[in-house]
Amino acid sequence: MGYCGGELARQALSGGHEVWGVRRGPEFPQGVRGVRLDLTSPEADLSPLPESADAIVYAVGAGAHDEASYERAYVAGLRRTLEHYERSLSERRTRLLFTSSTAVFGASEGWLDEESPADADTFSARILRRAEELTEQVGGTVLRLGGIYGPGRASMVGRIQRGELSSDSAPDRYTNRIHRDDVAGALLHLCALPAPAPLYLGVDEDPARLVEVVRWLEGRLTSDGRLPAAAGTAPRLPAKRARQVASKRCSSALLRAHGYCFRFPTFREGYAELLRASV
Ligand SMILES: NC(=O)c1ccc[n+]([C@@H]2O[C@H](COP(=O)([O-])OP(=O)(O)OC[C@H]3O[C@@H](n4cnc5c(N)ncnc54)[C@H](OP(=O)(O)O)[C@@H]3O)[C@@H](O)[C@H]2O)c1
Repeated sequence: MGYCGGELARQALSGGHEVWGVRRGPEFPQGVRGVRLDLTSPEADLSPLPESADAIVYAVGAGAHDEASYERAYVAGLRRTLEHYERSLSERRTRLLFTSSTAVFGASEGWLDEESPADADTFSARILRRAEELTEQVGGTVLRLGGIYGPGRASMVGRIQRGELSSDSAPDRYTNRIHRDDVAGALLHLCALPAPAPLYLGVDEDPARLVEVVRWLEGRLTSDGRLPAAAGTAPRLPAKRARQVASKRCSSALLRAHGYCFRFPTFREGYAELLRASV
């Protein structure tokens, strides 16, 4: 019940569903039946949760970028959840959705889709792949997400305003992103889809180059008077263009072919909404 889970709960509640949420912390969106527990603890008592559910969305975050945290959050916690719902999952009364990451792809260039090899040689990718396999074993569906942005998670705007990032310094590489509301919308769509595929890529329709995103934001911020006119052309902090890193382009064509319609099809709609809301 975090950033995406909370929004999923709000969307599901407004669609008339009953929503239960799990987290260690105390805050749950209004209307959610919240259960506070640590899913990674062997003593975790899941008995307050219902014995069955139409869908379980496992969107737990690791909290830290180290092997032990990833292992706990993505494998141990997921196993514990699968144990609790073993019966309803095996009888296919419950559908499991798991939020993975496009970081499982090792390729650094070109277009990627659900058929592309997920061969990144990092601990995080290996652990996520194991969690994906656990999901596949119970007939669940994996949604591999790109970088999530949205309300409260738009640090790029502040970095541009502070002169830490500009179109002169931004890397000229492709980037894959998805607005939080589309993460939630896509998950809810997959909860209800009669026969979802085992795997989807969860990214918007435009894996734009980072420099293009930054240039567009500079233009908007300048015309709003929130950035001095010359700021976009004269980098203040980073003097050199950043080193070229992964520049893959992920495609969400399958998700769209299976009926999901993006609220924010590209960064332009998503950031325009965020800038409007922060005026
Ligand atoms: N952020 C990105 O750009 C990105 C990109 C690709 C994939 N993803 C994946 O997308 C998913 C959703 O991301 P998000 O940004 O919504 O994550 P988030 O805001 O960090 O939410 C994670 C939730 O998991 C809960 N949680 C963590 N450990 C737990 C435990 N041991 N027991 C019970 N609950 C636990 C947290 O609550 P408590 O701390 O209160 O327990 C929190 O509610 C995650 O799986 C993430 O790895 C994210």
